[in-house]
Amino acid sequence: NHEEEPVLQTIKKQLSPDIYKLLIDIGTLADEQQISAFLIGGVVRDFLLERPNEDIDIVVEDDGILFADLLSKKIGGDVKTHEKFGTATWTTPSGLKLDIVTCRTEYYDSPGTLPIVRPSNLREDLRRRDFTINAMALQINRTHFGTLIDFFQGQEDIKKKKIRILHTLSFIEDPTRIIRAVRFAIRFNYKLAEQTYHLAIDACSMLKQVSSTRFLHEMDLLIKENSIIPGVQLLNDIGVWKSLFDLQVKEHQMASIKRLESYHFQDPFSYLIALLYKQKAWKHQIKRYAITTKQQQLVKQLEEMAKTVLPSNITLSELHLRFATFKEENLLLFALLIQHKKLEQYIVKRQNLNPLLTGEDLIEQGIKPGPKFSEILHQLTCLQLDQKLLTKKEAIDWLLQTKF
Ligand code: CTP
Repeated sequence: NHEEEPVLQTIKKQLSPDIYKLLIDIGTLADEQQISAFLIGGVVRDFLLERPNEDIDIVVEDDGILFADLLSKKIGGDVKTHEKFGTATWTTPSGLKLDIVTCRTEYYDSPGTLPIVRPSNLREDLRRRDFTINAMALQINRTHFGTLIDFFQGQEDIKKKKIRILHTLSFIEDPTRIIRAVRFAIRFNYKLAEQTYHLAIDACSMLKQVSSTRFLHEMDLLIKENSIIPGVQLLNDIGVWKSLFDLQVKEHQMASIKRLESYHFQDPFSYLIALLYKQKAWKHQIKRYAITTKQQQLVKQLEEMAKTVLPSNITLSELHLRFATFKEENLLLFALLIQHKKLEQYIVKRQNLNPLLTGEDLIEQGIKPGPKFSEILHQLTCLQLDQKLLTKKEAIDWLLQTKF
């Protein structure tokens, strides 16, 4: 009946009882098989930080796939294997999903590409990871349950509030870690350790070799944490924008980003446009990130919209005449980029507009369905936007007076 280590108490406190029991069961099976098994990655960090996290990753110093098969035989559930990576996803009988991984090291053929994976031991597995705070493991064998394995002083960096890479080539091997470093620094209110900061600066240009999908994915994670504003700022300090786009972010880009954020834009591509829009070469620069049809359509529509002259006193109906066919989201982005209040107002109004008359109302008024219909409805929208018609009755009166 030994005294429990503090970390053990935290595990108990933070995990739901069924996950806790599952870890015990996994540990027991690992003991039977004489295999070392560990919890690994973000969840260990979050135990120490007492932050909720039930994203359970397990590594075994053995064949992860075989071990997952054994687990499903003994406890039930299904196993899906990914032979190439030596990993398996075990779905437990109660529907929880756990990744079981073989300890591994990774080799990079060239920077920015996915690594090649080879089996190895725990220390090597941890060493290939991004930051010290993410490179701790917690043993779950019954005999050593709750023992913290911390080869790289992750605990100390938690105390010091530092994001620190594990080896000098880390950012070169995986440049997306520069963005991850920023994301974790902001999430936990930590600083990049000094050498890490300088190595990030040195490795900035490697981000050019990262595929646009991966780059935008990392930016997406920043946005999801509500960290886009401090994130863009810190990435600017590191020199990422300078290196990628020859861009020094100034107040007006930050203001643009804030406007997008206030409208809850979620798409990282839109934020990238907000950064670049005032640059002469923005269309050229954004090209490599415009992968999906939606993104390409956005760029095209922005180009078209920019061709129109928009006086600040333009009426909403005039705006409707020009922009009725444009996608609302694209139009809103344009309005925010050029800071056009009237256009912004038009989009918001158009979004919330309840048509005064429907097609059925027109039929009731004796108008035959046909091409005229959409013309009438369009005119009605214009009048409604300019607040020249406010009620259904006014709309019907207008309809009767105007000879269609
Ligand atoms: N990892 C890494 N390099 C990356 C991505 C991930 O070394 N480019 C490692 C880290 O050890 C990380 C683990 O893989 O802890 C799991 O990755 P992920 O789920 O992205 O990170 P978490 O730390 O779990 O982050 P979060 O709290 O955002 O889920």
